[in-house]
Amino acid sequence: MKGIVLAGGTGSRLWPITKGTSKQLLPIYDKPLIHYPIGTLMLAGIRDIFVITTPEDAPTFKRLLGDGSDIGVNFNYGVQESPRGIGEAFVIAEDFIGDDEVALILGDNLFHGHGLGTQLKEIRNVLGAEIFAYSVSDPERYGVVDFDKSGVAHSIEEKPLLPKSSYAIPGLYFYDNHVIEIAKNTPPSARGEIEITTINKTYLESGLLKVRVLPRGTMWLDTGTIESLNAASNYVKIIEERQGNKISCLEEISWRNKWISDSELKKIANLFNTNEYGIYLSKLTAGSN
Ligand code: DAU
Repeated sequence: MKGIVLAGGTGSRLWPITKGTSKQLLPIYDKPLIHYPIGTLMLAGIRDIFVITTPEDAPTFKRLLGDGSDIGVNFNYGVQESPRGIGEAFVIAEDFIGDDEVALILGDNLFHGHGLGTQLKEIRNVLGAEIFAYSVSDPERYGVVDFDKSGVAHSIEEKPLLPKSSYAIPGLYFYDNHVIEIAKNTPPSARGEIEITTINKTYLESGLLKVRVLPRGTMWLDTGTIESLNAASNYVKIIEERQGNKISCLEEISWRNKWISDSELKKIANLFNTNEYGIYLSKLTAGSN
């Protein structure tokens, strides 16, 4: 299973903050935003990760993440010249995906919850597509799925004015290898984008779309607006302060997955010197967490 993080876009809803930098580099409490979706892929057991950015921001992402070898993963990079839609990710990443199946996560989506990693690790040998549904109070802001009486997905709409259900579709999608061809054959919408919702509809119409409802105990946040960006920071702060555990600490996830050893983690911890993040990493190997 390969993984893609889509971290392009203009971030215009957050201007002026994102006029000089990428949205996915902004801090969500104690980490850059992109660490959260990368952490989700790593929790899903995915080590080959393709990061798509704008051409201007590519050097900064490479400086932040490197080749991933220090945390036992493999980062590759691609650029999206202009925001021609989420579905274009599969065209840009075609060579990287090769003959494999692929997970796509949006660079501004944050997932957290008990058992999430275990659930995501189970998604392998995907026949068609597997996506999620999450009940929200404002479904009109998202892709929306509704279900028939037997719980099977019935329709999918992008930002409907009158949503048929409260189930939003979070930005985490798993596909078989056909997604590359489907994306290539999906015409741009009226707003000039290869819509992920159109790709999902194609799978739905062929009877190959599985929709899993995320439990209420799972937190899903996107950070598309100032309010949601701030809410995400507050959420991470509250949980981390209360529990003493970090959300989406990439070094920790890697170490718990046994992708890096105690001594490799200690080496990274030392690089952070005595800042709070470094102390957290040091404590992990000392067994106090
Ligand atoms: O967050 C989940 C929602 O994401 C889904 O429910 C919707 O179905 C899906 O269309 C998407 O809606 P958004 O309105 O959040 O899409 P947005 O254009 O804001 O893009 C989401 C992220 O993807 C954002 O961080 C920028 C990045 N992006 C987006 C587009 C369209 C790109 O990198 N390139 C693009 O061409």
